[in-house]
Amino acid sequence: MSSLLDDLSALEAEALEAVDSADTLDNLESIRVQYLGRKDGRISAILRRVGELEPEERPQVGAEANRVKGRLQEALESQTAALTAEKGGQGSPGEDLTLPGRAPWAGGRHPVTLVIDELWEIFRGLGFTRARGPEAETEWHNFVALNTPLDHPAADEQDTLYLKGGHLLRSHTSPVQVRVMQSHRPPIRVLAPGMVYRRDTYDATHAPAFAQLEGLVVDEGITFVDLKATLAEFARRYWGPETRVRFRPSFFPFTEPSAEVDVKRVYRDAEGREQETDWLEIMGAGMVDPAVLDQCGIDSERYTGFAFGMGPGRIGMLKYGIPDIRAYFDNDMRFLRQFAHR
Ligand code: DAH
Repeated sequence: MSSLLDDLSALEAEALEAVDSADTLDNLESIRVQYLGRKDGRISAILRRVGELEPEERPQVGAEANRVKGRLQEALESQTAALTAEKGGQGSPGEDLTLPGRAPWAGGRHPVTLVIDELWEIFRGLGFTRARGPEAETEWHNFVALNTPLDHPAADEQDTLYLKGGHLLRSHTSPVQVRVMQSHRPPIRVLAPGMVYRRDTYDATHAPAFAQLEGLVVDEGITFVDLKATLAEFARRYWGPETRVRFRPSFFPFTEPSAEVDVKRVYRDAEGREQETDWLEIMGAGMVDPAVLDQCGIDSERYTGFAFGMGPGRIGMLKYGIPDIRAYFDNDMRFLRQFAHR
């Protein structure tokens, strides 16, 4: 028996020294196999000879073998860590391996784009296609074709950003209606998102550049009922099936009759009680003025249509509780990141 214990202690000294002088991870692995290997390892070989001993001597040798194994295992682990750290890998002293990693910033949608995409999904489901027009427009498309004479206050240089050469930055997306009617025959069902520009003072509720979303439907037999049904359906899909919609008479030069559309959201609070918001104005709308259809080459005796225009930025402010429109323009990542992965 004493010879097996001696063998073990000689083996321990030899193995620890080998671990200590190992200088690569491969080296350490072959030492591990050589001593701790289950089948051909040298400790296993000693344990196999335990059968030669008297039964009462066996436990002591078994316990000693386990101790040597554990000691060797620890030495292998600490030497592995030391070699890995030297390589500049994980685990060097002073590094906190439990810190979360730094994910690369993958970019995300701006909240206004997010809202446009949400609104677009709904209108797409209602049969609309997407249209676009230039941001630098002619006075004719931006005003004249839309029944707005150039001496109308909206066309005033005080309100509109004029470019050299007779163009201007469009003050609304309604000129896209004109371009679509000029280039397409009915039936027309389009949605046109885009930036518009006004000489507005930059404050909590105004910006000189902001997004609009324009809708236009032209076909035979389109009536105010289609306008109301389409916009009510849109509001219910966006804000929920209990949402109520109200049309207030209004005026726009290019629609007759015209309306301002308000929504009231009905929802349940945390206690399950029914709550409702105030009426919120979300868009202008109306039946396309027959004079506009004719200006754009569409026979107003045969066709009728409706149009609407809304501000997705404003809708986002309502939906996400954003108190100041300038948050959209500040490029504050703490604000923008909240929408990046929606
Ligand atoms: N163009 C209008 C504006 O910028 C919004 C608008 C109102 C668009 C009524 C429409 C409409 O298409 O029918 O204030």
